Amino acid sequence: MRRGSSNWVLLLLSFLVLHVSLSNEQEDSTAPMLRAEQEALYLLIQDLVGKWWNGSELYPDPCGWTQIQGVSCDVYDGKWHVTGLTFGSILDGSLECSEDASLSPLLFEFEHLKSLSFFGCFLSSHHKTSIPSSHWEKLAPSLETLEFRSNPGLVGEIPASITRLTKLQSLVLVDNSLSGNLPQELGHLVQLKRLALAGSHFSGQIPASIGSKLSELLILDMSRNSLTGPLPSSLGAMSSLLKLDLSDNFLHGSLPQELGQLQCLTLLDLRGNKFSHGLPQALHDMASLQDLLLSNNPLGGNLMGTDWGRLTNLSTLDLSNTNLSGEIPESIVRVKRLRFLALDNNNLSGCVPTKLADLPDLTALYLNGNNLAGELKFSEAFHRRMGRRFAFGGNPHSSVGRYCKQEKSAGSQGKGKGRIMDDQSSSVLTSLSFPASSINVWLGVAVQELLVVIALILLL
Ligand SMILES: *[C@@H]1O[C@H](CO)[C@@H](O)[C@H](O)[C@H]1NC(C)=O
Ligand SMILES: *[C@@H]1O[C@H](CO)[C@@H](O)[C@H](O)[C@H]1NC(C)=O
Ligand SMILES: *[C@@H]1O[C@H](CO)[C@@H](O)[C@H](O)[C@H]1NC(C)=O
Ligand SMILES: *[C@@H]1O[C@H](CO)[C@@H](O)[C@H](O)[C@H]1NC(C)=O
Repeated sequence: MRRGSSNWVLLLLSFLVLHVSLSNEQEDSTAPMLRAEQEALYLLIQDLVGKWWNGSELYPDPCGWTQIQGVSCDVYDGKWHVTGLTFGSILDGSLECSEDASLSPLLFEFEHLKSLSFFGCFLSSHHKTSIPSSHWEKLAPSLETLEFRSNPGLVGEIPASITRLTKLQSLVLVDNSLSGNLPQELGHLVQLKRLALAGSHFSGQIPASIGSKLSELLILDMSRNSLTGPLPSSLGAMSSLLKLDLSDNFLHGSLPQELGQLQCLTLLDLRGNKFSHGLPQALHDMASLQDLLLSNNPLGGNLMGTDWGRLTNLSTLDLSNTNLSGEIPESIVRVKRLRFLALDNNNLSGCVPTKLADLPDLTALYLNGNNLAGELKFSEAFHRRMGRRFAFGGNPHSSVGRYCKQEKSAGSQGKGKGRIMDDQSSSVLTSLSFPASSINVWLGVAVQELLVVIALILLL
């Protein structure tokens, strides 16, 4: 009896739930939009795409039956609200910006806006645009993604007021013409998972607050700027970090031991800076590293202080042109997953460990431009596997060195000076800087990054 009645209650409840959700859905599809928000949307778009664009004529119901490509909406309290805005030439039918595109302050009237993106929107070098310097706090309760990508006409500094957007999870300012110092207040964006500030003209030092406050960060990319000064040791506090790319700047000083605390880091790219004082001892503590790219730095020192065998997942090791001396340690052959090894254009001496040929995945080996002795004893099969991705030329003593016991005449020796990244590593290298111009690049994004994106979407 009791059981029967509770079943009834359950049935009734589920009926109610079904009914409520159905009627909600009906309401959704016919939900009205606030007149003011609709007008603001039309005017905002018109300022960006041109006066010819007549919203009320083309899209009388912008969140309903005449949806606009690049505009997404959601229902809050029975009304449609704009939640996402994407401008620029991404897909056919996207809202393409005009030559004299400008950013209307109406932008700050969308109180439910979660995502705002401009891809290749401000292009003109005659008509320059800056990131608005105030009112960002109005979007603070909702905005999670802010992106300006490939806007050569976007100039000026990052306004500190942008750091009032404390809900931001992704801040991407990539391939613009922004300049000036990075605001110290970036550390206020404590929910950031991705911070990408690559490919502008930023100068000055990396704010230490980034490392000490942004503990959720997964991706930090400040490559291709003019940043100076040392690497703040606080970066070691970003315990979740997966990718750190600071390549092509003017950073100098030693690599801090605290980098060893980055236990999740899979990519460390510091190529093309002025780092010195050798490899940090703690290098081998970054146990998850897959790509370690330090080429073109006057690092100096040698390879002996690192326990290479601990980097079990390392597949790309680029130490080309880093002023290394000493010998190539045998322990390097314990990096079993190594695919790409570049030690070229250093001052390495001694013999080449012949066991390198036993690394099952190795498909690129650059040893040219050193002082390595002896002749190489690699099999024909090994040379066939390497093809042009092997180079040993420019080792002046290689033919006269007699103290490499195992030496015997080997097959042809590559002489090429240039290096070819294998497919795998070159896709890693592009994965941090998605130019809007190409969808293909998106396809090349590493699986891990996709997972991060999916995780972000699930979080919404
Ligand atoms: C847009 O079109 C409507 C209806 O055709 C017209 O009344 C209005 O003046 C137009 N607005 C602009 C800005 O051209
Ligand atoms: C190495 O990679 C494998 C997957 O390929 C992963 O399961 C493992 O956790 C990684 N090891 C470390 C130390 O990150
Ligand atoms: C390379 O290292 C040597 C010491 O081994 C040092 O004397 C020289 O200045 C370094 N070169 C550069 C360009 O840093
Ligand atoms: C290269 O290393 C040798 C010792 O192996 C040293 O004598 C020489 O000065 C180094 N050359 C440079 C340019 O650092």
